[in-house]
Amino acid sequence: MPMESISSPSVPFCPRCRRALASDCTRCPDCHLGFSPLGGVLDVIGELPRETRAQNVEEFYTRSPFPGYAPGDDGATLLDRGRRTPFLDQLDASIAPDAWVLDCGCGTAQLASFLALAGPHRRIIGIDGCRESLTHADEFRQRAEISNLQLVRADLFELPAEAQGFPVVISRGVVHHTPDPDLAIRQVAERVAPGGILVLGFYETMGRAFHCVRRRLGKLVGREISFLDPVLRRRDLDAEKKRIWIDDQYRHPLEHILPLPHVLSVLNSLGFQWVRTVPPLALGTDLFEATPPLGTSALCARRWGWAWQGINDPDAGLVIVIARKNAGPS
Ligand SMILES: C[S@@+](CC[C@H](N)C(=O)[O-])C[C@H]1O[C@@H](n2cnc3c(N)ncnc32)[C@H](O)[C@@H]1O
Ligand SMILES: [Zn+2]
Repeated sequence: MPMESISSPSVPFCPRCRRALASDCTRCPDCHLGFSPLGGVLDVIGELPRETRAQNVEEFYTRSPFPGYAPGDDGATLLDRGRRTPFLDQLDASIAPDAWVLDCGCGTAQLASFLALAGPHRRIIGIDGCRESLTHADEFRQRAEISNLQLVRADLFELPAEAQGFPVVISRGVVHHTPDPDLAIRQVAERVAPGGILVLGFYETMGRAFHCVRRRLGKLVGREISFLDPVLRRRDLDAEKKRIWIDDQYRHPLEHILPLPHVLSVLNSLGFQWVRTVPPLALGTDLFEATPPLGTSALCARRWGWAWQGINDPDAGLVIVIARKNAGPS
């Protein structure tokens, strides 16, 4: 695979073989991946019909692109916010300054844009199935003059990205919104290079338990119960951000919750070793440095901890697992 087929960050580039592309081309001359241009986005789906549930999810995010930008957001504000968010700041510090990074289900691409801005010599590929979210992402990309982020519209189950090709693959908040989360985990895990890192964020069963109760109570009384939700309690968030949060958390058409032991066993079967979960987040640590594996009781205690913290958890039970792929053949 021609890792160095482009010598300096530039867009557009092919997500599958990484070849630099002429701005008007619709088929990669090397790997023949076909796409239609959608602004600065390479649209691999185009007008092709989608599986019904994937279509429903795309329509949902068309109404409520996630996470969405605030009106005044630009490169400087995004970079500043990322630096002040401990997880993002530590993620950036853990990723090599010239790494290729694949973000599967990037949404409006705040995370991908932050990593691109924080590491101008990285090449970031953000893939998502939602045209509208990617249009927001592309507008921001242009406004912030980000040249090392390639946005691609494609389905998670047909990722136009090389197998075993990326030292870092991220997929946050996505696999639980697909019809088959285990298969979705397999899809993203397959793109990790031997010895590389997977950063996988998903709704964990115990971590999400409080939110499930809160959502059920909300249904009973006919509206979201704001004082039980730390995001809705915030006074600094504008109404549009809160609307998007309510849609995402209370009205999503397709949502699974996954127990951590199950996710770990799927990853184990795919040749991955435990590195850590977030939370907890120990400040100043390299997120990709392995921590001791948790025994059964420690795992149980961690999950109960997430359940207890549910009432104040601004991520509503989203847990990140970081795992490293074995260096040998998996
Ligand atoms: C909750 S958002 C997460 C966005 C981003 N990863 C983040 O952490 O801010 C979930 C995203 O997954 C995308 N998604 C869901 N199912 C997908 C699929 N089958 N193929 C591609 N993208 C999908 C949605 O379009 C949406 O943008
Ligand atoms: Zn190509």
